[in-house]
Amino acid sequence: MEKTIDLKGRSYLAEKDFSEEEILYLLDLAQELKDKKAQGIKHRYLEGKNIALLFEKPSTRTRCAFTTACIDLGAHPEYLGKDDIQLGKKESIEDTAKVLGRMFDGIEFRGFEHEKVLSLAEHSGVPVWNGLTDLWHPTQMLADFMTIKEHTGRVKGIKLTYIGDGRNNVANSLLIGGAKVGMDVRICSPEDLFPDQEIVEMAEAFAKESGGKVTVTSDTDKAVSGADALYTDVWVSMGEEDKFAERIKLLKPYQVNMDLVKKTGNDEVIFLHCLPAFHDLHTTYGQNVYKEHGLKEMEVTDEVFRSKHSKVFDEAENRMHTIKAVMAATLGELD
Ligand code: CP
Ligand code: NVA
Repeated sequence: MEKTIDLKGRSYLAEKDFSEEEILYLLDLAQELKDKKAQGIKHRYLEGKNIALLFEKPSTRTRCAFTTACIDLGAHPEYLGKDDIQLGKKESIEDTAKVLGRMFDGIEFRGFEHEKVLSLAEHSGVPVWNGLTDLWHPTQMLADFMTIKEHTGRVKGIKLTYIGDGRNNVANSLLIGGAKVGMDVRICSPEDLFPDQEIVEMAEAFAKESGGKVTVTSDTDKAVSGADALYTDVWVSMGEEDKFAERIKLLKPYQVNMDLVKKTGNDEVIFLHCLPAFHDLHTTYGQNVYKEHGLKEMEVTDEVFRSKHSKVFDEAENRMHTIKAVMAATLGELD
């Protein structure tokens, strides 16, 4: 690929800091790296580098994607869980960042307050990648858009409907990311869970530049009409586990079920979910919700999750290719 965009040395913390061209470049690079892996072509752009993977919250996809991406790129990943280091407990983020920056070439962080990842980036002197904070989930957005592009051929002009908790990290990232690349983004949730006005205004400004469109509504029919992609996320995010009862009450009418899929009027509509998802009773949380609230499925029905519309496992795989692109572009020597 002709290299016209240079992201070397940059941190990847939030979509708002990246231009439309830069986001599209990362998507193209991810596709190129996915193709190389499929063809067995080596792409060891981070040969000899050491990467710290900091996780204050649990993770399956993000941790595994960073780990396998590091190894494919020739780097060494070091996992540091919440009880492994002093981060913010016995040592400030600033001091920890300075120490990690002397030993590691790049740092991934997943945690609660977004300020922590900002501080790591400010003080470490190396690229820092946001693996999810309470505010944003920017590596997820790249995998989502890559999956949309694979299945529809484009991102610009795509009608993307996110339905559910409209003010969580994934909703925020899709809203800003979609506005940046010229999508018609609809966030659909009860008014109590609308995104922050500041984020909506930011998205509106980006959409104006890109030719995109932003809608925030509690009207499900309006939100899903003509959608190319229907997206939902858990009703209760990590760190909010005391909110099941109130969220179930608010979000029950916003479940993605076959009736809602049909209301799009698009037989080719794809269903996306960042995962993990509550679509059956095969989890402890699912069992507890069933016992306490009588619900067998939450944000998406098992029927939709397993239907032809669902591309959630393509999306999960694409976490690795897109995270690889972010690390290679910001730290690697690309050819
Ligand atoms: N989608 C996602 O971030 O999954 P994990 O929480 O398993 O990393
Ligand atoms: N909104 C979810 C995303 C999980 C990948 C959470 O923060 O728990």
